[in-house]
Amino acid sequence: MINRRDFLRQGATGAASLLLAPKIGWTSAAGSRAADSRIEVLFDEPLGTISPNIYGHFVENLSGVLYDGIWVGEKSPVPNIDGLRKSLIEHMRKIKASVIRFPGGCFADSYDWRDGIGPREKRPRRTNFWAMGESEKSPASHHYDPNAVGTNEFVHFCKLIGAEPYLAANVRSLPASAFQQWVEYCNSPAGSTTLADARASAGYPEPFRVKYWGVGNESWGCGGEFTPQEYAVEFRRYSTWLPTYGDNLNLIASGPYTLESSWTRGFLEEVLRKGPGELRRIYGMALHYYTWNLSRGKTQDWEAGKGDAVKFEPVDWYELLREGDRMEGLVNAHWQALSEFDPEHRVKLVVDEWGPWYRPGSEATPGDQLEQMPTLRDAVFSGMTLDIFNRNPEKVAMANCAQLINCLNSLYLAHEDKFVITPVGHVFELYASHQGGQALRTVFSSPNLHYDRDGSATTFWGLRGSASVRDKNLTITAVNPSTSEPRLAEIALRGATIKEASMKFLSHADIHAHNTFDQREAVIPQTKPLNVSEGILVIEFPPASVAALSIQLI
Ligand code: AHR
Repeated sequence: MINRRDFLRQGATGAASLLLAPKIGWTSAAGSRAADSRIEVLFDEPLGTISPNIYGHFVENLSGVLYDGIWVGEKSPVPNIDGLRKSLIEHMRKIKASVIRFPGGCFADSYDWRDGIGPREKRPRRTNFWAMGESEKSPASHHYDPNAVGTNEFVHFCKLIGAEPYLAANVRSLPASAFQQWVEYCNSPAGSTTLADARASAGYPEPFRVKYWGVGNESWGCGGEFTPQEYAVEFRRYSTWLPTYGDNLNLIASGPYTLESSWTRGFLEEVLRKGPGELRRIYGMALHYYTWNLSRGKTQDWEAGKGDAVKFEPVDWYELLREGDRMEGLVNAHWQALSEFDPEHRVKLVVDEWGPWYRPGSEATPGDQLEQMPTLRDAVFSGMTLDIFNRNPEKVAMANCAQLINCLNSLYLAHEDKFVITPVGHVFELYASHQGGQALRTVFSSPNLHYDRDGSATTFWGLRGSASVRDKNLTITAVNPSTSEPRLAEIALRGATIKEASMKFLSHADIHAHNTFDQREAVIPQTKPLNVSEGILVIEFPPASVAALSIQLI
């Protein structure tokens, strides 16, 4: 039996039928057909501002993510900006990508940032955490890191997009001084230190002003196999003094990956042994949650529990959503654990790795480790997850979908000159207008859906989502998880009036639908005209869909 922790410790070598509920039948004022659902947006119950950083990304130096996905090289025939894939930058601008985490992941705790600066042709080639899992099909750059993309190239990538860089420091195999000097390299003013000069000689005289720093990654596992108490001691040491140059550094502590809160509690107890003031060091507590176990309770084995990314039955569709829906419970449980040590909630949650994780076999580019093919199921899953974050804006300060390109829940797939936006990428486009909006408590009333889960009649919610408002623009996003039934919902606003509305959604008659290099537009956003009659709006959410409503208020 192998669990996730063993898998990561060993590195890469280690390892229905649908029964319909009776319609409840809201009487629709607009209506020919009776609405079965209702979405009530409560303008007098604001929940907090949705941090744009909830719409964040994760780029690990892992197989095809960096080399091939992001970096093609300046001399490549693939359209690029200073060696970085141009089509990727363009779409990331469109979705207003807010923050990008780099260089790992497990990769981070064996990475020396000093290998990735200076003239590119002189940078060393190194082995790395993921190297042993590469196959003979993978190019040399996936086996041994050429260090062509280091801090300069990554930060340049972020700046071209308009995103904030979030760097993860190596706590397992580098001393605290290396972390301190990485901050100095990035943030010291032009001309101030030898490291500022080194940055300038690479063409970047002005400081990068990197605000977000991870202190290790998964320190309970690949990041050092620490106990929470041991990690807390390291965290205090690595964070005791760092140069700030007038800007606050937001330090993110390595956090848990299950509902179980002993890591969060053990860590905070030990950090605070030196006094309550120690809390000031921590901006966020990381939380990682991958949805991987589709065995329907039959096993907890990390390999045996996984399902296929593309070949699945409706019951697997529901299982993925059921497992993923646990995210809200995780957020609440760890928030509760934090509140025992930090009643004022200075420390926020940073969900810096999330997404489904399937077994290998669906890679668009054979040989790309951890790459999987995102389908409509992953789009619906991603919408559901982003809605959970939107509903908890005071708790979740940042979230990073794992991972951006050629990996797990990727927004993009690319190989050489081929590039495609996955259904997950389109969801980030649909949801972009939530960024910076005021989240509003919204009540979704809808009949549960029913399905057969290995002989037992099982239910799952019928319609859920989130809402936010900015100026006179209201955004409502919603997921209809039913593989076969539409939902007809009446929109009711308490405290505002609808002027006009439009809707974009992703759906497909085939729940396995996905975009490939040859069929790039199998799943793309569709627009639906909406009629607002005397301020009343009734909307049909197609089966297996994720939708965004854009509503202008009077
Ligand atoms: O995203 C892949 C891996 O999953 C990351 O390197 C690690 O942090 C997590 O366990």
